Amino acid sequence: MKTTITTLQKMKQDGQKIVMLTCYDASFATLMDEAGVDILLVGDSLGNVIQGQTSTLPVTMDQMVYHTQCVARGNREALVLADLPFAAYQQSPQQAYENAARLMAAGAEMVKIEGGMVMVETVAFLAARGIPVCAHIGLQPQSVNVYGGFKIQGKTQHEAEVLKRDALALQQAGAAMVLMEMIPADLAKTVTESLSVPTIGIGAGVDVDGQVLVVYDMLGVFPGKKARFVKNFMHGVSSIQGAFESYVHEVRAATFPAAEHSY
Ligand code: KIV
Repeated sequence: MKTTITTLQKMKQDGQKIVMLTCYDASFATLMDEAGVDILLVGDSLGNVIQGQTSTLPVTMDQMVYHTQCVARGNREALVLADLPFAAYQQSPQQAYENAARLMAAGAEMVKIEGGMVMVETVAFLAARGIPVCAHIGLQPQSVNVYGGFKIQGKTQHEAEVLKRDALALQQAGAAMVLMEMIPADLAKTVTESLSVPTIGIGAGVDVDGQVLVVYDMLGVFPGKKARFVKNFMHGVSSIQGAFESYVHEVRAATFPAAEHSY
């Protein structure tokens, strides 16, 4: 059955975990979809893992449109979520609408933007015009130059209060989903309990409504130092399809992430 925004809402209500992976091409889209992944995220992490960039900042709208088209062609049932890349939405709600509309025309069914309170107006603008939005808070990779590195967010009481306030404001503005990256597990749990829309975590512990990983990380393909929240799902299986099935199973059973993957 096709996964829609209504399916995701019901999964939250029923306490069924949502499974998301990043995806950049048609072949992986087919494998993930058949393994039961609920959401394929055409992430701007393609800048790192496909293009070999040191950040997501150089990724362009044309590249996001191209990869969204590829993923949509390979997919049948999963929901396709696509990132608006750096400098494609921050200027104004109108700019965000024009670029989000391009991703929707390419096959996305929801778009993701990074930012807290500053994005409330944009989320409301898009949601009111038929574009479902996933709000990405916590560590926002497009702001790496502001943080001075990829650092855990929400650690101080003040940061935690700001994050909780932002999540509620984004939901109030019409966000259909909230993604939280690299924050303490207890904070992610509090936010998840305070929202009626689903939350997805990456490095946010197990007490969220769903999980996402970058596919090349969970297949052990991407070289270099691994973040604490990454698990290699190729261990103990003999195929990529087996790794996707194992990830789906562990997220649904809430055995991933374990405490060792959380902050
Ligand atoms: O682009 C991406 O892969 C992401 C994940 C880190 C959630 O936004």
